[in-house]
Amino acid sequence: MIKIMLVGSNHTLDMMKVLLNESAIETSISKNEALPDVTIYEIDSIQTLFKTPKSFTNPTFLYITNNNKELLDNVKNYAVSGLIFPPLTTVGIMSKITNLSLIKPSKIKKEDYEVTRIKIMAKSESIPPLPALAQELIKLTRDDSTSITQLTDNIKMDQGISTAIVKLVNSPFYGVKQDISSIDRATALLGFNSIKNIAIASSMNSYYQKNFSMYKTTGNEMWKHSYNVACISQIIGKQLELDHESLYLAGLLHDIGKIVLVDFLEKPVNYIEDEQEQIGFNHAEIGALVLEKWAIVSEVTEAVKTHHNFDADTFGKILYFANKIDNNKELADEIIREMQLVFGIQDITIVTKKILAAINDDNEVFR
Ligand SMILES: [Fe+2]
Ligand SMILES: [Fe+2]
Repeated sequence: MIKIMLVGSNHTLDMMKVLLNESAIETSISKNEALPDVTIYEIDSIQTLFKTPKSFTNPTFLYITNNNKELLDNVKNYAVSGLIFPPLTTVGIMSKITNLSLIKPSKIKKEDYEVTRIKIMAKSESIPPLPALAQELIKLTRDDSTSITQLTDNIKMDQGISTAIVKLVNSPFYGVKQDISSIDRATALLGFNSIKNIAIASSMNSYYQKNFSMYKTTGNEMWKHSYNVACISQIIGKQLELDHESLYLAGLLHDIGKIVLVDFLEKPVNYIEDEQEQIGFNHAEIGALVLEKWAIVSEVTEAVKTHHNFDADTFGKILYFANKIDNNKELADEIIREMQLVFGIQDITIVTKKILAAINDDNEVFR
C-alpha cells in the first residue's frame, strides 16, 4: 500500500481519491498523515510554487495546474521526482509513483535475508564480464588516429555483431536515407562514435539469452529496452552537454541487475518494490554491484544504482526519465515535457523527435 499525501485543494483531494481507489495498487490519500511514501504539491500559481520547499526527504511531485511561463521556468529549481499535469488520470498518476524505488520493509526473515544475500553475491560474481569486444570498444577513443580502422577491423571479426550493426544503422532513428550494407560504409556515414555505440549494444545480446518471464518480458525485449534507454539517455546527454558516451553505456547497463535477480524470483514482479518485498534486494543495487566488479567508471555505476530514485544526481535522473519514457511509450510526450521542465531544456522539439524515433523503431535485430 502506497501512502500519498496531497498538499492542495479539497477538490483535487477528492478527485485523486476517486481515481486511485480504482487502481490495482491499494492507495490511501490523506492530507495530514505522517510520513507518506509520496507527496504531491498542487501548484496553481507562481505564489504557491514559491511557498513550496525546494528539496524533500521523500519522493515528491508537483501537480501543475497553471501554464504560466515564469512558473514553468522555475520548476527546474525544485528537486522533485516528476511533474503531473491535468487531466488527472489513474494511469497517469500510477505510472509516476510506481516507477520509484520506495523503500518498503521487507517481510523476509533475517536469516533468510542473509542466505539470499550470500547467494546473490555469488551469482553476481559469476556473471561473465562484458564481452571482450565491448571492453575494447569502450576503451577506443576518437582521438586516436588508428582507432577507426582498428574499430572496424575488430567488428568485422564478429559476424553476428556485424550483421546486427548493419541492420541497426538502417533504422529510421539514424536517419540515413540510403541502404547501408557494410561496416565500412556504415562507419563512413554515421561516424566513429555511433558505430562504436551500436557495436557495444550489439555485443550485449549474449546477456539477454535467458528466460525473463518473472519480469513478464523476454530477453530480446529486455535487450531492446536497454538499447532504447541508452539512445534516449544519449540524446538528453547531448542536449544538456554532458558526457553522453557514459550516459549511453549507463542506459545499456541500467537493468543488468535483473540478469542476476531473475534467478531468485519466485513470483512475477511488476515493479522494483516487488523485488524488494520478495527477496530484500532490487535490481538497481545489484546492477551496481556487478558493474563495480567489472570496474565500469563510477559515474555509470552510480547512475545505474539510482535509476529508480527520486533524488538521483543528474546522470541517475536522466536514466530515470529515459527508463520511464520507454516503459510508458503511450505517455512519452507528457514525460518528455515533464523532463524538459525538470532539466530546464529550452527547446525540446528536436529532442522529442529523436526520442520518439528511437522508441518507435521496431528493428528486426531485436526480434
Ligand atoms: Fe530498472
Ligand atoms: Fe529499465
